[in-house]
Order: sequence, then C-alpha cells, then structure tokens
Amino acid sequence: MNEQSQNKPAEEGVSRRNFITKFWSVVIGGIVSLTPIVVGLTFFLDPILRRRKVAGATGDAAGSQGEGFLKVSSEAALPADGTPVFQQIRKNVIDAWNTYIDQPVGSVYLRKTKEGAITAFNSECPHLGCTVSYQEANHQYKCPCHDSEFKLDGERTNEIPPRPMDELDVKVDESGNIWVKFQSYKIGVSEQIPKN
Ligand code: FES
Repeated sequence: MNEQSQNKPAEEGVSRRNFITKFWSVVIGGIVSLTPIVVGLTFFLDPILRRRKVAGATGDAAGSQGEGFLKVSSEAALPADGTPVFQQIRKNVIDAWNTYIDQPVGSVYLRKTKEGAITAFNSECPHLGCTVSYQEANHQYKCPCHDSEFKLDGERTNEIPPRPMDELDVKVDESGNIWVKFQSYKIGVSEQIPKN
C-alpha cells in the first residue's frame, strides 16, 4: 500500500468535519439573523392578531354590542303621532392599532308608526350622500343637496334618488330600549350594497 492510499481516509475525515462545521455555521447564522426579523414582525402584527381574537370571541369588533345592534334611544322618546326623530349613531371604532371610543358613525330617523311599529332609516341620501332633512310641513323627507324627496315610509316621491331611503333592522328590548343594526350603503346605485 503506497503513501497516497494511506492518507485517503484521513483526508476524507477532515473534509467531513469541514462540511459539518460549515453546515452548522450556516444553520446557526441563519437562526441568528432571522430572529430580529421574526421578533419585529410579531411586534408589528400583534395589534391585528389581538383584534382578530377579540372579534372572534365576541362576534363583534366593538365588543358587547352583540350582532351589530347599537342601543340608540327608547320607545318612550318617540312621539306617538308618528313624527320621525333624528338620532346620531355613535360606536367604538377599532382599526388595527387603536380603539376610538364613542365615535359618530352616521345618523338615522327613528319613528313609531300609528300601529306601534318602530322603524329606522339611515339619514344618508342614497343619491350622493348628503344628510336628508325631515319636513314637518308636508310630512316627508327632503335632501337639501339636489332635492331628492321621500315619504315617511322611505319611498321616493321623485326620480332623483336611485333607490328609497335605506331601512335598517330594529329591535326593542323588554325595557323599551331601541336597538338599531346600523349600516351604511353605497350611494348613487339602485341596489342596496353595504359599504363594508
Ligand atoms: S345627495 Fe341628496 S339629492 Fe343629491
């Protein structure tokens, strides 16, 4: 056996050790360099993940306002003669990083009909989004921007708006509180399409 063939196993051992050393250097280097990125991403996404957890647990991003209904008034506050009452809608607004407490998000007209039913219409004009006014003199709604007009039941009395006023879901609890499922819809279209 010559000297060259005697050295071969020793050389193979050295190159295997070199490979293992390089392999672990790459693995450990990768872990060390990725750690700050993972920590940074976790910190950055934490509010979003927490918000999803809260929304999933309560079924409503604003919490304690189950099924999206908001307490807005009471039955006793509505005139018995069917006159609509303008009511601002406020709720907690949550974005990815912040919670804004009790923010105005829109308004409605609440009304008790002669039959005792409670109705709610979004006050946003479906034409281009101005706030509709109630006109006591002729018992109808009129938009000050381009003269859209609506009857008390929300139906149009001219062809300016593309659809009737948007009626919202209402419920009255055993204490006479009025709860409205507030929703805004896209303006300028004949279909009722939720904005979000
Ligand atoms: S926005 Fe109401 S009529 Fe145009």
